[in-house]
Amino acid sequence: EANSNGSDNKTLSVGTEATFAPFEFMKKGKVTGFDVDLLNAVAKEAGYEVKIKNTGWDTMMAGVQDESIDIGMAGITINKKRLKTYDFSHPYFESINMIVAPKDSPIENAKDLKDKRIGVQNGTTGQMASEALFGENNKNILKYETSAMAFMALENGDVEAVVTDYAVAKEYVEKNPDKNVKTIDDRTNFTPEYYGIMFHKDSKLKAKFDQALNKILDDGTYTEIYKKWFGT
Ligand code: ARG
Repeated sequence: EANSNGSDNKTLSVGTEATFAPFEFMKKGKVTGFDVDLLNAVAKEAGYEVKIKNTGWDTMMAGVQDESIDIGMAGITINKKRLKTYDFSHPYFESINMIVAPKDSPIENAKDLKDKRIGVQNGTTGQMASEALFGENNKNILKYETSAMAFMALENGDVEAVVTDYAVAKEYVEKNPDKNVKTIDDRTNFTPEYYGIMFHKDSKLKAKFDQALNKILDDGTYTEIYKKWFGT
């Protein structure tokens, strides 16, 4: 039955990889974070309910492609390669890769990662950016299934640095003062990227969610959610 937005009331299934604070992480058994609040607001505006599940990255990617999952929401960067397989909403967040390394590390920029063991989350732009600098299948680029596992590898010394999205890098360093790590910013070798809500190709949801996202950007809801997670 159509509601006031002219949509059916179907509950949409959403996949994510919830070790990516502040965008998505588990709290008391529930997926929470900036992405969760934003998607809930956008979906509500579009006339849908959403059920967000911590499926993991690969299952999310495969599920959205084979349409067993309606939406991927995981700080997913819109890029050319992914646009061949998926549709994305308008961008909702600007990001850039950043380096996390021990406080006493001599690394000053991304070029200094040469011949160092780099931890990345498998299939992410952190991997792509590292490979662009040091070559695909470079043995020094170690790929982990989750974002948390890449940070764990840094903690136990399996890698000498992690390359990940700046807000996640900053949050990790701030929340773990005992780990003695720092962020290293490099806006020359890394370039800005933009997150989008991910749908399967030619999904009818894209237009509806774009319209709803515009509304949420206009009416102050986005700003409210942004302030909640990132401060002013
Ligand atoms: N923005 C990066 C990408 O799209 C990393 C996203 C990782 N997200 C996550 N929830 N683990 O590749």
